[in-house]
Amino acid sequence: MAQFILSSFRGHLTNNATKISFKTSLLRPLLLNNNFSTTTPNNNSIQNITVYGSGLMGAGIVQVAAQNGFKVTMVDIEQAFIEKGKKIIDASLSRIAKKQFKDDENSQKSFIETTWSNIKTETNSEKGAENTDLIIEAIVENLETKQNLFKKLDKISKPNTIFASNTSSLPISEISKITERQDKFAGLHFFNPVPQMKLVEIIKNDQTSEDTYQKLVDVTKRMKKTPVTCKDTPGFIVNRLLVPYLMEAVRLAERGEATTEDIDTAMKLGAGMPMGPFELSDFVGLDTLKSIVDGWRKDGKIDAGLVAPIKKLDDLVKEGKLGRKSGAGFYTY
Ligand code: 3HC
Repeated sequence: MAQFILSSFRGHLTNNATKISFKTSLLRPLLLNNNFSTTTPNNNSIQNITVYGSGLMGAGIVQVAAQNGFKVTMVDIEQAFIEKGKKIIDASLSRIAKKQFKDDENSQKSFIETTWSNIKTETNSEKGAENTDLIIEAIVENLETKQNLFKKLDKISKPNTIFASNTSSLPISEISKITERQDKFAGLHFFNPVPQMKLVEIIKNDQTSEDTYQKLVDVTKRMKKTPVTCKDTPGFIVNRLLVPYLMEAVRLAERGEATTEDIDTAMKLGAGMPMGPFELSDFVGLDTLKSIVDGWRKDGKIDAGLVAPIKKLDDLVKEGKLGRKSGAGFYTY
């Protein structure tokens, strides 16, 4: 079982990390060896966070939490994946530092160092769960893999550790039912790019306690994000509206009614979207979109027409054209 978890324990949004320069690598060995203290006595709020998965989403969550003063452990099964995650964080931090402290190199350096001083990394998943107040899972979108991870963590985590999943498509109640702490379980759904997108969806299932919910509201606000609350329904709020829109754009192009380029231009200039639907699909990942739609179709809870298979999408995924992260999707990168 452990073997299975380890072999499939991988965030699906690894993206183009290899293209990003690792600007502050000299600082890294010194800064990653921190030993974090356990939660401050008499303080019931969350201080220590462990994020499972160092792909684009996991790394983004680690960064935003660390930037805002949480002590964060980034866990992945292999050091190579951790290194990719660190590169994603490095690139994003130097971008933010340059923006926030324009001509002040000392402040830029200090911001980056302080953030890294809040981050440690771990390839042993059990060790990562020690003394943590909140576990955020951002691994591969596979129900069994997520359940196996949480089942293992449930046995070894402190009784009051809150569990959260960053799933974009799986029911929280299905993931959490494997644990003995369904009252301390919720969805915490971030958006890509995590450092830039201000929203976090908090998904309450029937068993999520008010105390757990309030703590998650507090955490997201301390991360300088805006929380919204949603029931445990397919796609929650954003994906429930966004994914059918993206799929409808593909159908429009497939019928030959407009080109992908013109649809993208139309939605950017006519509807004020920062990216057109094809650019955004490539950005999110075509495999991710396909797995969301396929899951919904199986689930049967969403209108069949909205989730009908789309040949163009299926073909691109089959060809390994998954969007930006693979160098090609609807567009070539
Ligand atoms: N880290 C830090 N900052 C970042 C960043 C990152 N990784 N990526 C972008 N930014 C910042 C830039 O620094 C810049 O900040 P500024 O405006 O203060 O100078 C700002 O974002 C804009 O970036 P750029 O100028 O480089 O590029 P764009 O103007 O083209 O914006 C974008 C890029 C922010 C990605 C914008 O195109 C956008 O908002 N696109 C839509 C993204 C979206 O819809 N995401 C949600 C996807 S759905 C999802 O994630 C759910 C999942 O479950 C499927």
